[in-house]
Amino acid sequence: MTRVYDQLTHAEGTVRTRTDPHSHSEPDKFRIKHLDLDLQVSFDKRKLEGTAVLTVERQNGSQSRSLVLDTRDLNVHRVEAEGRLGTFRDAAYEIGTRDPIQGAPLTVFVPLDVQRIKITYSTSPRASALHWVEPVQTAGKRFPFVSTQSQEIHARSWIPLQDTPSVRLTYHAQIRTPTNLSAVMSAESNSMGDRGGSYRFEMNRPIPPYLIALAVGDIGFASTGPRTGVYADPVLIEAARYEFAEAEQMLQQAEQLYGPYLWGRLDILVLPPSFPFGGMENPSVIFVTPTLISGDRSAVSVIAHELAHAWSGNLVTNATWSDFWLNEGFTTYIERRLQGRLYGKTRADMEDVLARQRLEEEMQRLAPQDQILHIDLEGRDPDAATTLVPYVKGALFLGSLEEIFGRQRLDAYLRAYFNHFAFQSVTTEQAIAYLKDNLFRQSPELAARVPLHEWIFEPGLPKSAPKPVSEALNAVKDQAEQWLKGELPLECLQSKNWSAHEWLYFLCSLPADLSPARMRQLDAVCHFTQAKNTEILQQWLLMAIHNRYSPAYPRLEAFLSTVGRRIYIKPLFEELVRTEEGKRFAQDIYSRVRSGYHPLSRATVDKIVGEPERDPAQSSVV
Ligand code: BES
Ligand code: ZN
Repeated sequence: MTRVYDQLTHAEGTVRTRTDPHSHSEPDKFRIKHLDLDLQVSFDKRKLEGTAVLTVERQNGSQSRSLVLDTRDLNVHRVEAEGRLGTFRDAAYEIGTRDPIQGAPLTVFVPLDVQRIKITYSTSPRASALHWVEPVQTAGKRFPFVSTQSQEIHARSWIPLQDTPSVRLTYHAQIRTPTNLSAVMSAESNSMGDRGGSYRFEMNRPIPPYLIALAVGDIGFASTGPRTGVYADPVLIEAARYEFAEAEQMLQQAEQLYGPYLWGRLDILVLPPSFPFGGMENPSVIFVTPTLISGDRSAVSVIAHELAHAWSGNLVTNATWSDFWLNEGFTTYIERRLQGRLYGKTRADMEDVLARQRLEEEMQRLAPQDQILHIDLEGRDPDAATTLVPYVKGALFLGSLEEIFGRQRLDAYLRAYFNHFAFQSVTTEQAIAYLKDNLFRQSPELAARVPLHEWIFEPGLPKSAPKPVSEALNAVKDQAEQWLKGELPLECLQSKNWSAHEWLYFLCSLPADLSPARMRQLDAVCHFTQAKNTEILQQWLLMAIHNRYSPAYPRLEAFLSTVGRRIYIKPLFEELVRTEEGKRFAQDIYSRVRSGYHPLSRATVDKIVGEPERDPAQSSVV
């Protein structure tokens, strides 16, 4: 069901009309301003239990007696409302029909002078945000682990609230855990890795609900600088400290470009390998996959990316999931700028070339409406928008503004944009209006060169889109072609100093169909089946499936059994199910590993492989 936020007034006093098709809540009537969370973490029951106290504010003189919240699979035990006099009294409430995408609205009947609402509840073992990990799936193998992933619309499966990125709230939390485990949240903490079973957190800056995050497990802490550090399983802590030692440097580069970092600390939490993302930009504590730890600091682009979100996403937030490109496109552009500043132009150029190549490949498979930056998600799961389009097409759009207006002007523009919309959620329309007023109006002749409508509302890429060039990668492609023509034996590749990017491009430069002899030769000389770098290995495994190169299958099985990062496993399963034999292999592996997958990865792979016969208690909900 869609709610229209008629005439939302925001900080500048401008008026807008908005729709968030992914929330039942009515922010035109009430807005949650603050959340007080008190939760007990129970690994035995796979549940969080406790209370959420929501401080609400009426909007635009609304006299509404019903406050609508989002929930998904929550067990609500009791609802109380507090008026001006300060006592909580039982309030009537109603849980509506569960929508498969949005979950069920919780309507609370409130007094006119309502100030706070207290909800006593517990989560379901199938909560879509919660990933309960068995000890064997962790690095230390001794303790269980649980973490949340609220983006995009999963916060509602562990906290009843207005789950739309157009609402911002501060939060305080008290988390109770078994005494040998520790808790980390996307907030300031009183513990920094202490154990004791009771932890307090404070986030005093208003954030959208999808940035509320929690992890509990055997988590140690090591400092890497005055405001940076790593949280990880104790057996990984030294490796993590080395891998992410450059966080402070990166932070300083970003601050030079876009102004002060406003989130206090920048810590990095290493999750178990089944985490479905490379990284998640939870404020103050970035959550990352352990596959970034390669010993050579080659995956720091993910850290640069999540750090960039401190400005594009966390400070200035997409108002709805149709505006997701404002988060991810801006962030991908900034990520590349940080890479350039830290590691030089050669590396940034390589990443640009690889990204554009992948975007073009993906767009060939996408329906035209999914190639649009301002994507229409009405009636769809917002997860559908998580293609490379918002990321790479969005970054190319900013890259083209840079080409046309110059780097200096674009930097100044972005700084002003972050400043102007700080701690607000913006729509594509607002971002466009600001762009026209603050960049285009000053130079109409340059603005005329930007096909703005085509960039944001039409499929494909405009002809004038930047065409990144990397001399290093061109040299790689030349060698790949020479090998294919028989002019260069593989043993003679000039690959001694190749970076992971160059190896990846080498593989991507080869044709899809390769003879068994060529596959065997590639593996014998370059040892791809044993590759340590996850990106290279994943590309090789794709090629192995496509060309039925069976010596790589044991590694493929091991990969699919441990790595949960969705952008890696999804294409592998898709490639497998193209043939009957591959499909059987996929179903066989999946039936064994599914229960260990994150609910989000399960939802994705279920659609590709088909759901195996299963125990209803284990079922996924998304
Ligand atoms: N915010 C995203 C992760 C995300 C996207 C979670 C959509 C839920 C829904 C995060 O910033 C991200 O983009 N991660 C990327 C890494 C990056 C370097 C492209 C990932 O996990 O692949
Ligand atoms: Zn991102």
